[in-house]
Amino acid sequence: METLKGMERTFNCGELRKNDEGKIVQLAGWVSRRRDHGGLIFVDMRDRSGIVQIVFDAAEIGAEFSKAETLRNEFVIGVRGKVRARSEETVNPKMATGEIEIVVSELRILNKAKTPPFYIQDGVDVDENVRLRYRYLDLRRPEMQQNIILRHRVTKIMRDYLDENGFLEIETPMLCKSTPEGARDFLVPSRLNPGQFYALPQSPQIFKQLLMVSGFEKYFQIVRCFRDEDLRADRQPEFTQLDIETSFLNQDTILTLMEGLIKKIFETTLNVEIKTPFLRMSWSEAMERFGSDKPDLRFGMELQDISEFVKGSDFKVFNSVLEKGGQVKVINVEGYADIPRRELDDLVEYCKIYGAKGMAWIQYTAEGIKSPFKKFYSDETFEKIKNATGAKTGDLLLVVGDKASVVAQALGELRLEMARRRNLIDADKLCFLWVVDFPMFEYVEEDKRWKAMHHPFTAPREEDIEFLLTAPEKVKANAYDIVLNGVEVGGGSLRIYQSDLQEKVFEAIGLTHEEAHTKFGFLMDAFEYGTPPHGGIAFGLDRLVMLMSKRKSIRDVIAFPKTQSAVDPMSHAPSEVDEKQLRELYIKTTVKKSTN
Ligand code: AMO
Repeated sequence: METLKGMERTFNCGELRKNDEGKIVQLAGWVSRRRDHGGLIFVDMRDRSGIVQIVFDAAEIGAEFSKAETLRNEFVIGVRGKVRARSEETVNPKMATGEIEIVVSELRILNKAKTPPFYIQDGVDVDENVRLRYRYLDLRRPEMQQNIILRHRVTKIMRDYLDENGFLEIETPMLCKSTPEGARDFLVPSRLNPGQFYALPQSPQIFKQLLMVSGFEKYFQIVRCFRDEDLRADRQPEFTQLDIETSFLNQDTILTLMEGLIKKIFETTLNVEIKTPFLRMSWSEAMERFGSDKPDLRFGMELQDISEFVKGSDFKVFNSVLEKGGQVKVINVEGYADIPRRELDDLVEYCKIYGAKGMAWIQYTAEGIKSPFKKFYSDETFEKIKNATGAKTGDLLLVVGDKASVVAQALGELRLEMARRRNLIDADKLCFLWVVDFPMFEYVEEDKRWKAMHHPFTAPREEDIEFLLTAPEKVKANAYDIVLNGVEVGGGSLRIYQSDLQEKVFEAIGLTHEEAHTKFGFLMDAFEYGTPPHGGIAFGLDRLVMLMSKRKSIRDVIAFPKTQSAVDPMSHAPSEVDEKQLRELYIKTTVKKSTN
């Protein structure tokens, strides 16, 4: 193999333009594609900056030409050559470098390559497991490189912006104490303390609050977090947060600072205008109108209540729902009254996934009304519903009746599904909003107890503190989520900073004084030494970059992610370990060794 000695690169492939014509350049990179036209060989040569066409002409380079004939995809090469303008008919407007090509005078083959398992190009149709198995090749594809480069630029802007605004980047431990609440912990056995475990941090929440007690006032960290939860397209077992905490700032000031950050990130990297302040909507309003605490505002189709029109009839389904304090709501799928019956049946099943017992409909067709509950109501009632919901002839109302939480979930999901099916989502729109005034607690049916909706360090609204122990359902929190296009990209809150209030909240979620002290004693102790009022937020970096790069999965913006079943098909993590390693950790496993 040859080396680049004496022929070190002077330009990057993707940066050459027409005004470089005539320059002698030295390039290094990979063979992306090779076309052999007899005495002429064209190669698309790729490096991180992009692709440029290089030409080997047998008439000009003689002996070097036979070397060029051995080139294959993904060989690593260095070339010297002259920039030449392409003739008008060979200009490629799809390539940034499409107006020129390099006529090669010298070629060095720096390394050969086996034939890759898939083409190193954008938009390959390959099973994701194969991409992850050969992630180093997948990451060589230009679109993946762009995602990772964007991610770098986003974190760079975050650091700069926060530094300019007086924030300090401070690291916190990865080996922590396991705490209840939140998701399941990843545990790490301690060899030096047999039988004891560290937990990997689900977030640096407690440490960042302690840093406020220490007087750092404005903290941030771009930090890995670990949660052992069921995975989805926007969830990874390890993911990255931009974690932030501030002292002495009120909620408005924090939100404004964060809007400034988002504006700067989007405007600098994507060259789009972001209008601030973002819309702010209470959690209750979001649930009522969109059936979701992270509404996608790129389209309408809001949930509308028709309870008052359908009550008191002979239709038992709605009657019993309403008698039990439930509600009957609809979404209007405009212009889809002629929906096929098959699809309606399919939508009923779809709603059942989200806890609804069923779904009904009203089709306002030109030939009249079609509805499974038509015989229970007068034409006048259907007319009233039509007017109240703003439906027109030709529209389809999808109806769910149940308790409020089920209606919200089923119709909220159905709203998204119908928007996808009917192509109502403008992929270029960016709809930010703050969801505020979250309930402090949610009731966990399985455990028969209240649980903190955000986390137990979130401050309740001052006027609701009196209900903490008597009517927890009434208590709202000073908590906020930032939502972009239906994805929760961040969340935070003002925190409790008095130990007696913190104790009360622990009590409300059923932690005894002793339990609270065993788990969080150090935090309660710290609070006794002059704790400033404080609050913060954490952004999901992966989710943010996923939306910015218009990808459907956060795996596409993480260099080395795990699959849905939390494995890495490339390195084969997780894996079994030696008996000896386990013995050193005083761990015995009862799981039989797998045979693969
Ligand atoms: P929260 O749990 O809401 O808040 O997390 C903050 C943001 O992190 C992202 N996120 C995830 N991204 C990928 N995979 C996951 N498994 C995952 N889980 C969460 C989301 C989410 O909005 N300590 C608090 C923040 C605070 O109160 O300051 C916290 O961690 O985008």
